[in-house]
Amino acid sequence: MEFDKVLEKRVSARDFTDQKLTDEEVAEILDAANKAPIAMGEYDKCQLFVIRDKALLEEISEEYRNKAGVKHDALYGAPVMILFASSKETSAAFEDCGCVLENIALKATAMGLGSCYIRGAIQSLGNDATYLDSLDLANKFHPVSGIILGHSKKENPPKDHKIRANFIG
Ligand SMILES: Cc1cc2nc3c(=O)[nH]c(=O)nc-3n(C[C@H](O)[C@H](O)[C@H](O)COP(=O)(O)O)c2cc1C
Repeated sequence: MEFDKVLEKRVSARDFTDQKLTDEEVAEILDAANKAPIAMGEYDKCQLFVIRDKALLEEISEEYRNKAGVKHDALYGAPVMILFASSKETSAAFEDCGCVLENIALKATAMGLGSCYIRGAIQSLGNDATYLDSLDLANKFHPVSGIILGHSKKENPPKDHKIRANFIG
């Protein structure tokens, strides 16, 4: 897909079919993630979890429902969430995470997949969440944010966002 088309088509998807991603698709996505820039080139201060276990995805959603007192599924029934975790020893966790997750979102779009950042639930559940017991989180690492992926039930139209741009000179 042409690059500008990918940018245009990348919008958040929140309605997914049950279709899983193939191992090949996940490998392509991870390859894109690994091409992201990371502060000081410290790739060893980042960790990714590809969560495809339906029970664990439901557990995360349930834990968030209970904690936040909400009724909706914060993971929107997606078949996979990729969680970005970062070493507590880097001060660039959010920037690193944004770069990696955006590469994932754009690659997913180019592959015809839907995606949506999931920061709310991950940040709200924090570092002591029960679901983290199921992950092999490296020592002194913490979860930063996630992105859900899957096949969208419907085509999501492009959006016309406007960020104010000031010109100096
Ligand atoms: C850092 C970040 C965190 C986000 N967290 C969530 C989230 O927790 N849940 C959600 O449904 N959408 C989340 N979003 C998606 C935004 O709401 C969405 O990108 C924005 O409204 C623009 O819409 P678009 O992605 O369709 O262009 C997040 C986006 C970003 C960049």
